[in-house]
Formats: sequence, structure tokens, C-alpha cells
Amino acid sequence: MNNQNNLQARDSFATRLGLVLAAAGSAIGLGNVWKFPYITGENGGAAFILVYLICIALIGLPVMVAELSVGRKAGKSTVSAFKKFAPKSVWITGGVTGVLAALLIMFYYPVIAGWAFAYVFKSLFSGLTTLSPEGIGEFFGNYISGIEEPIFWQLVVVIITCWILVGGVKDGIEKWSKLLMPTLFVILVILVIRSLTLQGAAKGVAFLWYPDFSKLTMHGVLTALGHSFFTLSLGMGIMVTYGSYVSKSEDLSKTAIMVTIADTSIALMAGLAIFPAVFAFGFEPGHGPGLVFVTLPAVFSKMPLGSIFSALFFLLLGIAALTSTMSLTEVVVAYLVDEHNWSRTKSIITTGIVFFIFGVPASLAMGPWAELKFFGLNYFDLLDYFSSNILLPLGGLLVALFVGFRWGVQGAIDEVSNGGKIKSSFINLYGFVIKYIAPVLILIVFLNALGLLDKL
Ligand code: PHE
Repeated sequence: MNNQNNLQARDSFATRLGLVLAAAGSAIGLGNVWKFPYITGENGGAAFILVYLICIALIGLPVMVAELSVGRKAGKSTVSAFKKFAPKSVWITGGVTGVLAALLIMFYYPVIAGWAFAYVFKSLFSGLTTLSPEGIGEFFGNYISGIEEPIFWQLVVVIITCWILVGGVKDGIEKWSKLLMPTLFVILVILVIRSLTLQGAAKGVAFLWYPDFSKLTMHGVLTALGHSFFTLSLGMGIMVTYGSYVSKSEDLSKTAIMVTIADTSIALMAGLAIFPAVFAFGFEPGHGPGLVFVTLPAVFSKMPLGSIFSALFFLLLGIAALTSTMSLTEVVVAYLVDEHNWSRTKSIITTGIVFFIFGVPASLAMGPWAELKFFGLNYFDLLDYFSSNILLPLGGLLVALFVGFRWGVQGAIDEVSNGGKIKSSFINLYGFVIKYIAPVLILIVFLNALGLLDKL
């Protein structure tokens, strides 16, 4: 055995479907069901979606292929992969930013995931959907600024995530993704049908379908660019880590295309579940982050069996978040296993404890600690800003540059085409896009995140 795994064979995905569902599970998360609908609502609907789709094709897809191929070639999770390719060089930063981003995201992401699970019970048993729209707004404000309850649900999310990961790649991530992703899909289909069959739904469909470019601003374009990154879970080594669990015969570009299509379809379906209902009941689409937690329960309150549909929706949101927290946690765990030779269980338990200790202040930042500010942001916003706006684009930029200029396009294409066995026009274009187009676009996202493009 001349490879790196001298003690035991590396755990891996058993089937292509398992890999695609796990990677899609990572990609499909709060970004699709919570964030995409509200940023679409704020930025004028269809025109924004069009720009978003272009960004997905031009940066998202190539960077995902790049990450998967780096991981598979190295057979290692993110930091070790960069180290293996380019020992003792600055390229290791590409891996370190990923592990750091995963940690920071996991301090706050379970807070929102926890709200979703709490809302399932609030819808079913606490009469959430019997309140007036103002009452729901007030309820939400009181709930998130509370102490014990949100922290309890945050802890539940961390514990379930860790428990699933103890099973490993095949018997943990893959098995649960195969169960949770179809469940998510079925719930979403039910909600889309419900929403589309409401009287007055057509206005919501038109909002998503007919582009009104007069509503599209430069800010909207940059938001689309940044979101295309977050929604595909790029720039933080998740796909590098998952790539290291993939067999050499797998067609990586096909995998990436399937994951990208799944992620985009779910985001669009979430839009179709939300906007027709919002318009049908005369609510406003541009309500920002409160769209799903305040506007939607108000929409459900006007429907027959609203509490059931509301519970289903928040279950969907919770499941989507859970398959993402699995992948985020895996990045940190795989790093500890590969780099520090820790056992998987020890890595998971330690990581879980760290997530919780540093995560509690993120929940408290919604209430008692709201005024505790760093650089003008509370702890929650700071984590979100620093990870999504700085570390992810930086990680993505480094991966693209690494593949384009350090590893070299030829080597990368060789890996993606399985040594020339797979031929496709996508692979032919890939070299040019990953070397020039993707880095330039990512750089724009990055400069924007740093506030350097504000004058535009
Ligand atoms: N892609 C996930 C979503 O859309 C979020 C995420 C980002 C997950 C980065 C992992 C890494 O919600």
C-alpha cells in the first residue's frame, strides 16, 4: 500500500446517488429556502434570478468541479490536500480558510436551523398560525431574543449532526442524505402544489418569471454573485473533502452538474412555494430575512390547515439545514482526522463541544447580547459577515487560482476526464473558465464584500 492511508482504508461514498445526494444536501440549505427567496424578493424577482443563474454557471459549476478534483486527486481533506500538492507553500491557506469558515459558520448556522425546528412545534401545538400578522412578528422577536429555548434547539441541531457523523461517510452522511433529501423534495412538492393552486397565485409566478430589469441594481448583481457561492457550499473545502471520498471512476463534472441543477431547482421551487402564496394573500415580497419566519406563518394563517402546512415548511427548512451542518462539520472532523491523526469519534465530540460553546453567544446576540458589538456588528452578524463574505470568496479564489496556475489546467483536466476517458465540451471549456473567468468574478465578489465597490 503506497498511499496515505496506512492504517485503514479511507471511508467513501458507496454509490453515485449517495455522493450526489450528500453534496446536494450540503448545497441545499438555509441559503435556498430562507435566503434565496428573500434576496429575490428584495431585488425585483426574475431579473435577479437570471443574473443568479449566469453566476451559477460561470463560477459555481467550475469551482465545484475544481474542488472535487483537488480532493479526489489528493485523497485527502482540504488542508492536507493542499499540503500534499504544494508542500510548505502559501497554498495551504486555501485549506485553512475553509476549516476556519466551517467553524465560524457552525457557530451561527445551527441557531437559525434551531428556530426552524422550534417553529415546527410552534405551528402544530402553540397556535403560531392563529396569530395576527403583527402578533407573529412580535412572537418571532420575543422568541429569538429569548435564552433557554433557542439555545436548546441549537444544541439539538449540533447533537443530531454529530450523531449522524459518528456513522462515518457511507453509514452516516450517505445513509442520512438518502433519507432526508427525498423527504425534503416530497415536502417541497406538496408546498409548491398548495401555493400554486391558491387563488391569485399567478401574480407570484409572474414575479418569478418575467424579468423587470429596471428593478435590478448593481447591488443586486453583486448579491447574486456572492450568493451563488454560498448556496453551492463552495470556497470552504466541503467539496474537496467530499471529493476525497469519491472513486476514481466517477465522472466529476457530471456529479457537479447534477448537484448544481439540484441546488438551483430547489431554490426555484422554494420561490414557487413561497411567492404565489405571499401574493395570493396580499403580502409584500420584499420583507428581507423575516420573509420565512414572519411573513410565511402569516400567509399560512390564512389557509385551511395552515398549521400543518406551516409545520411542513419549517420541517423542510430544518432538514435542509441539517444536511448542510453535516457537511460543515465533516470538513472540521476530516481535518482533525487527516492532519492530527485523531480518531473520528474524538474529533466529532470535540468539534461538537466547540460548536456549542462558541455558538451560544450567537444565539444570545439576538437578545441579551445584541448590543455587544465588534467592528459595529454583533457576534452573530460578525460571524456571518466574516465567513460568507470574506472567507468563502477567498477560499474559492484560492482554489480557482490553485487549479489554474499551480496544479495547472492540464493536470486538472486529466483528473476531471479520468485520464482522458471522458470527453465533453464542458471539460474543453473548463480550463479557460477556471483560469480566467472564475477568478475575476470571484475577485469582484471579494472586493465588494470588503466594501471597496460601494461607490458603484
Ligand atoms: N450551501 C448551504 C446553503 O445554501 C450553506 C453552506 C455554505 C453550507 C457553506 C456549507 C458551506 O444554505
